[in-house]
Amino acid sequence: MTTTGMLDVTADVLTKFTWNYVQDNPALVKLYEKGKVSQWNATTDIDWTPEVVFGEPDPEMTPEAREMIDNFMGFNSPDSPFAGMNENERIRMGWEFQSWMVSQFMHGEQGALVATARLVETVPDIDAKYYGANQVADEARHVEAYARYINDKLGADHAYEISAPLEALLVDIMTEKRWDITYLGMQIMVEGLALAAFGMGNVLFRDPVIKQITDYVMRDEARHVAFGVLALKEAIPQLSSAELADREEFLLEAIDLMYQRFLLEQVWERVGIDVEKGKAFARNNPLMIIFRQMLFSKIVPNVNKLGLMTSAVRQRFEELQVIQWASTPDSASEELAAADA
Ligand SMILES: [Fe+2]
Ligand SMILES: [Fe+2]
Repeated sequence: MTTTGMLDVTADVLTKFTWNYVQDNPALVKLYEKGKVSQWNATTDIDWTPEVVFGEPDPEMTPEAREMIDNFMGFNSPDSPFAGMNENERIRMGWEFQSWMVSQFMHGEQGALVATARLVETVPDIDAKYYGANQVADEARHVEAYARYINDKLGADHAYEISAPLEALLVDIMTEKRWDITYLGMQIMVEGLALAAFGMGNVLFRDPVIKQITDYVMRDEARHVAFGVLALKEAIPQLSSAELADREEFLLEAIDLMYQRFLLEQVWERVGIDVEKGKAFARNNPLMIIFRQMLFSKIVPNVNKLGLMTSAVRQRFEELQVIQWASTPDSASEELAAADA
């Protein structure tokens, strides 16, 4: 099946012009300069020549990667819905997982493209408008690269529609008129999760083309998450307690949607595994739990850095067992240190 349909979101937005063109945010200036020299071309920088055959075993898979996938899918545990699958069925599951993940990357990237275009309009400062514009070009390239991979390499028949929780989150983000919530949703939550997911995806992915695309995309994403942290760091402390409570509520909703995103409903449906059984497996399998916890590794430190670790947010992170990331470096510090190096 190819992905079809469309989604319309209505919003009441406040467009901001500024007549102050002084670039007075040195950290954002540095990030913008780095963005300008880090542009790449999806047409010419990616090697599109390797053949990708959905369902084929990967001749270069290491025994470690193989073991990880076996554990991840629970192939060897008797309570897994995959127990008893033969070799070909196992290989197909790996490809389905890859198709699902790349499809969600593609849809999420379009969300980032559209949300960042909105930010260019709604952020008050010239530095943030410049950087936002730079990011719009990055996101267009990301959508382009993933879409081309799906259409030309994997085969459009294997694509997945956007998952319901991701769609709900995009609607939440795009209905929002307050620019800092757009940032919070897109730059901190969606992109933070994507950054971690790309890294893990690259261990599980089965062909060199997708690995190369994802390596390029990740470099850009590290900058984007840093942008979110830098832009919000100054805005959050100025919020009233009522405004902060709204951000907290948004954050809690986003955390739940992101967590649900990885119960893999659509994959179970496609391969004909009972959806409730599949979801129960995704909820309880130890490696799947670790996988979901890893997905929050680029979210928790940034939420903490921004001063949004309220007791309710902390409690939610504790329940999901991801609170340990709070003490790791935030993305802006990491990215700016890398820019200096
Ligand atoms: Fe992106
Ligand atoms: Fe991004």
